[in-house]
Amino acid sequence: MKKSIIFSAIAVLAFASAYARQLPVYLDESQPIEARVEDALSRMTLDEKIAVLHAQSKFSSRGVPRLGIPDFWTDDGPHGIRPDVLWDEWEQAGQSNDSCVAFPALTCLAASWNPDMGQLYGVSLGEEARYRGKDMILGPGVNIYRTPLGGRNFEYFGEDPYLASQMVVPYIQGLQSCGVSACVKHFALNNDEEYRFQVHTIVDDRALYEIYLPAFKAAVQKAGTWAVMGGYNLYKNQHNCHNQYLLNDILKRDWQFDGVVVSDWGGTHDTEQSITNGLDMEFGTWTDGLKTGASNAYENYYLAQPYKRLIVSGKYTDKELNDKVRRILRLFFRTTMRTDRARGFMCSEAHYDAALKIACDGMVLLQNNNATLPIDPSAGKRILVVGENAIKMMTVGGGSSSLKVQREVLPLDAIRKRFGDANVTYERGYVGDTTGEYNGVTTGQDLRDNRSAKQLIAAACDKARAADVVIFIGGLNKSDYQDCEGHDRKQYDLPYGQGDVIEALAATGTPVVVVNVSGNAVATPWRSHVAAIVQQWFLGSQTGTAIAALLAGDINPSGKLPFSFYERLEDVAAHALNTYPGTWRPDHKIIDEEYKEGIFVGYRWLDLKNIKPAFAFGYGLSYTTFSLKDAKISAKQVAASDPHLSVSVTVTNTGKRAGAEVVQLYITDQQSSLPRPAKELKGFKKVYLQPGESRVVTLDIDKDALSYYDDKQAAWVCEPGKFTAHVGNASNNLTQHLDFTVK
Ligand code: BGC
Repeated sequence: MKKSIIFSAIAVLAFASAYARQLPVYLDESQPIEARVEDALSRMTLDEKIAVLHAQSKFSSRGVPRLGIPDFWTDDGPHGIRPDVLWDEWEQAGQSNDSCVAFPALTCLAASWNPDMGQLYGVSLGEEARYRGKDMILGPGVNIYRTPLGGRNFEYFGEDPYLASQMVVPYIQGLQSCGVSACVKHFALNNDEEYRFQVHTIVDDRALYEIYLPAFKAAVQKAGTWAVMGGYNLYKNQHNCHNQYLLNDILKRDWQFDGVVVSDWGGTHDTEQSITNGLDMEFGTWTDGLKTGASNAYENYYLAQPYKRLIVSGKYTDKELNDKVRRILRLFFRTTMRTDRARGFMCSEAHYDAALKIACDGMVLLQNNNATLPIDPSAGKRILVVGENAIKMMTVGGGSSSLKVQREVLPLDAIRKRFGDANVTYERGYVGDTTGEYNGVTTGQDLRDNRSAKQLIAAACDKARAADVVIFIGGLNKSDYQDCEGHDRKQYDLPYGQGDVIEALAATGTPVVVVNVSGNAVATPWRSHVAAIVQQWFLGSQTGTAIAALLAGDINPSGKLPFSFYERLEDVAAHALNTYPGTWRPDHKIIDEEYKEGIFVGYRWLDLKNIKPAFAFGYGLSYTTFSLKDAKISAKQVAASDPHLSVSVTVTNTGKRAGAEVVQLYITDQQSSLPRPAKELKGFKKVYLQPGESRVVTLDIDKDALSYYDDKQAAWVCEPGKFTAHVGNASNNLTQHLDFTVK
């Protein structure tokens, strides 16, 4: 007995000392990450250091094989895990195991106003990424919605910096909790797509700090993102993938970002600027597929042999190089070098459930005259569904966020299932874009229809006359010049003559419900002629299931708009001031886009100009009703040095269905040395309430909520004076007002 204890003790000690002897610090997960970084760095040769700085294939970069550090794999992002392409081509690799779950577009997540959905989204995506062997997801995107023409707005979080900041943090935290890095993009000022490689953004410091940077800052400082992607555009005449001001001064120095800056694919243009101006990892620069060679090979990337030559020749020391490698090693130790990462899983029911939950939380009911919705499935109503988006797959297309899905439930199929085949008929109404291919992935749908616009409308109206209700499902799609990367929309109106179809249907006298599928606002000149309007978004795999549930009342809509629905394009600051898309320089190489509206973006501009939107930021209806009463403020006076106060309000579900309301807090600075918006969102909370249930919601106000960026002092300032806190359920429905003073 005694002997065996002694033997085992000796064995344990021997094992422990051998282990201690053999395990280098960089491999020892019990060591602090910085010690491991330094140890690994000290073991690397110049060639090994250079090798980790740049891609070795379309989406991967090298590890350090000699040290047992594996290759690093990235992938898009941000709505699901993009299918694999060939090593050096954009063509599909043709794998049979890369069909994923598509989650709702980020505009829908933003519209949920529910940070819990961000967490669920991030974790679910991270699990899919892990299963697919991806170490970094290229997303989320947090560029501010500046014009409704923006081709990639559907991939972002809307027009308000506070909302975007609150919603992006849990997404990143959820994703990174799986040991998968986020890569927040596109830093910065990449607010539209047209001429994205040539746009030179000119913006004043107040707008930069107050509007365009906060969501990135929250991603870095609150969520701790491990990577940031530079934008294609230019700022202060430097490309944003190697930009002294944005990357070195703001991101790395001021915000103390310790992660890696990744170039956008093909966004690197110069070796020396890449060395000195903050880029760490170069991806997507064109190659002819060769690893080595005289031209166009990975070895010729700006941060590959050209960099090595400058070090060997003595023009640069390893100062910048070591900083970049340290950052990359940190990324490896946070991801690929972890032994505790779970394997992940794909296409599980848990992920479909998550996608459905987020979709249901984000759809926005914009109009509901005479309680047209919900439609009781047991009432046996004759339903006519009209519109291409009822039958078109939307997960294929849109650019780099395009996916290959295991399944995508189409609206018409789900409506038929929920309301009964016998009760539902379908008419096309219009023909939009019948293509269904992106980057080698095809939908396999044949959507051709040769009837003329007149014939299509006549057929739809004939059936509408025989129906009890028409559900028109249209909007934009993921084709070029719609909600799609690479270009912006050409018009604010609904495309393909959909306005005419809606007007004609409405003229039949049968109530029309319009379901708008888009990631952007559209003109709604027809809205007083239709009964109900739903902003559906791009919802991914569970699209049909979610919209059918909303129409049938299985769920109660609770989303709120993350951007304004303008009446006309001229109501948008960028268009009113004629600053979009900018002015070409004489050599036609660069287009200057000056953000002349400054901080007055979105509802801030509408307030300034007293313009009424069609549907306001923060607005959205429910099938139940809520009251907001008894708003109270915790203090009437606070000190400017450390202002802390809170506003509480009682929310009651005054209707007959369970549902959720988003309590919103906006602040007005009544006395300010610099111009400030009439009000700004500074707090919100979503509460779920049973009929008759009440809850007291408390929202905190701190220094950040009261401060503006003073461009003269280059500092955030909380200025003494009078302020007002407004509470309500939409930016245009603030019913409680509370004054306080900052001393
Ligand atoms: C896009 C990025 C994307 C990258 C890789 C670029 O064109 O701008 O958002 O992550 O391609 O697909």
